[in-house]
Amino acid sequence: MATEAFSYIGAHSKEEVMDLFSRHVSSGKVRFFQQAGIDFVMGRREGPYMWDLNGEKRVIDCHCNGGVFNLGHRNPVLVETLTQALKELDIGNHHLLSEQRATLAKRLAELTPGDITYTVFGVSGGEAVDLAIKIARAYTKRPKIVSARRGYHGHTGFALAAGDEKFRAPFGPMPPGFVQVPFGDLDAMKEAVDSETAAVILETVPATAGILVPEPDYLPGVREICDKANALLIIDEVQTGLGRTGLLWGVEHFGVVPDIMVIGKGLSGGIYPITATCFREKLEVVFHPDPFIHISTFGGAEVGCPVALKVLEISSEPAFLEHVREMAAFFASGFDYLKQRHPRVLVGLRRLGMMMGIELVHEAYGPLFSRFAYENGLLCVYAYHDPRVVQFLPPLIIDRPLAEEILERVDRTLAILASFVGG
Ligand SMILES: Cc1ncc(COP(=O)(O)O)c(C=O)c1O
Repeated sequence: MATEAFSYIGAHSKEEVMDLFSRHVSSGKVRFFQQAGIDFVMGRREGPYMWDLNGEKRVIDCHCNGGVFNLGHRNPVLVETLTQALKELDIGNHHLLSEQRATLAKRLAELTPGDITYTVFGVSGGEAVDLAIKIARAYTKRPKIVSARRGYHGHTGFALAAGDEKFRAPFGPMPPGFVQVPFGDLDAMKEAVDSETAAVILETVPATAGILVPEPDYLPGVREICDKANALLIIDEVQTGLGRTGLLWGVEHFGVVPDIMVIGKGLSGGIYPITATCFREKLEVVFHPDPFIHISTFGGAEVGCPVALKVLEISSEPAFLEHVREMAAFFASGFDYLKQRHPRVLVGLRRLGMMMGIELVHEAYGPLFSRFAYENGLLCVYAYHDPRVVQFLPPLIIDRPLAEEILERVDRTLAILASFVGG
């Protein structure tokens, strides 16, 4: 007699999940999403789509978890890679030498800019940023870390200290030595970086601050300031890396070679968590006295390495990057048209490749846009530190017809927003 296949999705009703989540995970998040009008529980997912748990509603994922789903949900090539890997590998022992980590690190060395040749793997972006800061302090023997106000590098120790005040406030004293300057302001950077500075850490395009695309001379200018002060430059490519901007790395647009580069999110392929702190050869001396001075039990878990390698293979393909640039150009001209149609609510599109932010006229409009977009079948979330801007990150694998459909849905969303606010 055939037994019914077990399914992880739908063993509970949507209402049951909301109740369980509220009582055992986070009552605040349940309340938040109910109030935001995004009454969604993740159910089935495939490619650019996610379905609500009850299967009735489908959304196109234009949030992509900041790039985790650059290659779509449950990308079949990546699922197959993980399935094969599981036949031979497990997490591995992080104390020991590993063929999988060595091969992946070699590929990263080939693909990252300049003489970045070493990688230490982690599980989260925050952890990878923490390590970047540890390396900078240990190498320079200096305490000071300069970062951008409203920047975002995660919620762990040093990453949190380098991030925005909003996330730090409730948690008491932070580690000393962290200084913040406005993003894009070279004079402020010049003022802040001195002989005590270990490193400057910046996102290439700060996402949580509202997709702030820097002027062409900003990052080269920061590089120069760091060089003059013998400070290191750490670039956080957690969101901008892996093809999101139309080049493999966002910094490539600016011709800047960082000393340390942090990669996360999309490296997982949305399938197995893995992050990377990649650094220049000279910085490896930090680990010479004690190579076990930094370790992470699950960092660079062996089963995840083949997935990350496949992600790199797909994302570095010239045809893939060309496709991203074509889709980006399509959205750019599409938003020029939408700007004319909805001038009372839409300012325009902030954009570097497909790293995009929909800039609206008023800070109250971001949350409203997210709500109306959801009603129109799009998952889009406004930027935490600037709710005037809605992060707009469709998967990089979308084709032209789907891009057209997304734009039509954005058009409808803007029309509803305009009539709601009386425009
Ligand atoms: C730019 C950037 N850096 C670091 C992080 C932290 O990554 P994680 O949440 O994996 O710790 C994020 C997460 O959103 C990010 O957007």
